[in-house]
Amino acid sequence: MENAIILSSAPRPRWLPLALVLLAAALGALGWAVWQTQFAWKSGYGDGDLSHIAQADPRALSGGDLTTFHDGFMPFGQSADNLPWQYEAIFEEGDGVFDKTFRPGDGRTASAVNSAGGMRRVGVGPLYNATGCAECHFRDGRVEQPYVSGGPMLGMFLRLSVPDGKGGFKAPDGYHAQLRDKAVAGVPAEGIGHIDWEEIPGAFPDGEQFSLRRPHFRIEAPAYGPLPENLIVEARTAPPVHGGGLIEAIADATLLSLVKTQENAPDGVSGKLSWLTDPETGKKVSGRFSLKANEPSLRAQAAGAAFNDMGVTSPIHRRQMCLDNQTACLAAPHGGTPEEPELPENLLRSLTVYLQLLAVPARRNLADPVALRGEQMFQAARCNACHVDTLQTGDTHEIARLRNQTIHPYSDFLLHDLGPDLAGRPDGLASASEWRTPPLWGIGLTERSNHHTVFLHDQRARNLQEAILWHGGEASAAKARFMAMPKADRQALLKFLESL
Ligand code: HEC
Ligand code: HEC
Repeated sequence: MENAIILSSAPRPRWLPLALVLLAAALGALGWAVWQTQFAWKSGYGDGDLSHIAQADPRALSGGDLTTFHDGFMPFGQSADNLPWQYEAIFEEGDGVFDKTFRPGDGRTASAVNSAGGMRRVGVGPLYNATGCAECHFRDGRVEQPYVSGGPMLGMFLRLSVPDGKGGFKAPDGYHAQLRDKAVAGVPAEGIGHIDWEEIPGAFPDGEQFSLRRPHFRIEAPAYGPLPENLIVEARTAPPVHGGGLIEAIADATLLSLVKTQENAPDGVSGKLSWLTDPETGKKVSGRFSLKANEPSLRAQAAGAAFNDMGVTSPIHRRQMCLDNQTACLAAPHGGTPEEPELPENLLRSLTVYLQLLAVPARRNLADPVALRGEQMFQAARCNACHVDTLQTGDTHEIARLRNQTIHPYSDFLLHDLGPDLAGRPDGLASASEWRTPPLWGIGLTERSNHHTVFLHDQRARNLQEAILWHGGEASAAKARFMAMPKADRQALLKFLESL
C-alpha cells in the first residue's frame, strides 16, 4: 500500500510518452524492414502494378499471374511481371548461367582456385553434347535441326539402349545411355549421330495430299567399341522451358484426378502418371519434366541437364561421368572436385529459380472468328482429352506466386501411348511408345522466337499439321477426326494452335 502511494506520487518524466511513441515507431519500422527484406519478397510479388493482368481477358492468361504480353522476339525468355527485386536479381543470375557458353575446365584444384580468387574455370566435358543450355533451348525455346538429310545433330541427342536379357534395357557396353557426340581435346567423342530423312506420302479423306518425313538415325565413328546390332536409338530434342514453375506447382492430386477421369474416357485415352525416385531425397515423387516425364523437379532437371548434356558437375552429380573404359575421359582435367562441384549450390539455385519464374506468353487472336472456330474443332476432335486446357496449381509451392494459379497449359502432363511410329526406347515407367503430353502454351510463337516450326520429340514434324498427323495409338481417334474435317475446319484448328 505504502509503495503504491509512493509510485503514484512520483512525477512522471515529460519526455516518456514521446520516447515510447518513438520506440514503437522504430520497432515498427525495423519489423517492416525485416519483413520486407527477409520474408515478403518470397511471395514472388513486387510492389509494382499487375493491373494489366487483372484487367485482361481471362482466356488470354495462359500462365495466370505469370503471363507475359511481351510481343518481341523472346516470348519464352521473359520473367514474370512485377517480381520483387530480390527475385529479379536471382532470376538474372540464373539467366546468366542458362545463356553461358561453358569452356573446358582447366583442371586446377578447387583449393588452388579459392586462393587464386575464384578463377577456376567451370568446365564443359570431358564428354558432352553442347556447351550451354541455350545452345539447345535457343531463346528458351527449341533450336532447329538442320533439315539436310545425313546432316549432324544440333540441340538433339541420341539415347541408346539394348535389351538386358531380363526383360529390361541397359546402355550398350562401353557407352552411356546418352551418346555424347563431343569431347574436349584429347578425349574421343563417343560417336557422331546423323539423321537420314525418308519421305512418306499420305492423303486426307478429301483427297488432299501430304508428305511426312521419318528420321533414321545412324552413329558414325563409335569410339568405344562396336555398337550391337540390336541397338535401339531414340532422339530427343530440347523442348521450350517457359512456365516450368507452374508445371512444378501442380499438385499430384490434380494429375491423379486426370488419370481417374481418363479411366472412363472415350477413344481409349488413358494417361498414367510417371513415378520416380528423387535423386536428392530418395523419396518417391511424380515426374512431370522431360519428354518421358522422368524428372521430378526443375532443380533435378537443371542439374541433370548440366551433367548429362554438358558434363558440368553440381551438388546433385558430383563426379564426372567417365566410364571405366573411357580412360582419356578419366584422365582429362576438369574444373571441379566432388567436394566443390563445377556448378556450386548458389548457381544451381539461381538456375532453378530462373526456370521457375519464366512467364508464359499470353494467348492471342481472341476476337478472330477463325481461331475461335478452331478452338471448337480442337474440342470436337477431343484433342483436349490429353491437351487439357485448364488446370489449377496447388497451394504448396515454396514460391507463393506459383500457388493457386488458373493456367491453360493444354497438357495433362501424363504419359500416353502414341503408337509405334513414334516409338523410341523405354524410360522409367514410360514404354517405348509412351510420351508425356507436351504443353501447347506458346506453341504459336515458335516461329517468331526460334525461326522454325519443327515439332515432336525428334522434330520430325515440319509444321503443326504434320505434328498432328504423326499422332497414333491413344490419339488415333482424335487424329482421324482431324483428318475427316473439311479443309476449312482443319485450317481453323491450326489457326487456333497458332494463337496459343
Ligand atoms: C544437348 C541439348 C541440351 C542442352 C545443352 C540442355 N538441354 Fe535441357 N533438354 C534437352 C532435351 C533433349 C530435353 C528433353 C529431355 C528428355 O526427354 O530426357 C530437355 C529438357 C529440359 C527441361 C524440361 C522441360 C520440360 O518441359 O519438361 C528443362 C527445364 C531443361 N531441359 C533445362 C535445361 C537447362 C537448365 C540446361 C543447362 C544446364 C539444359 N536444359 C541444357 C536438351 C538440352
Ligand atoms: C492421347 C493423348 C493425345 C491426344 C488425344 C492428342 N495429343 Fe497431341 N500430343 C500428345 C503427345 C504425347 C505428344 C508428344 C509426341 C512426341 O513428341 O512424339 C503430342 C504432341 C502434339 C503436338 C506437338 C507439340 C510439340 O511441342 O512438339 C501438337 C501440336 C499436338 N500434339 C496437337 C494435337 C492436336 C491438334 C490433337 C487433336 C487432333 C492432339 N494433339 C491430340 C498427346 C495427345
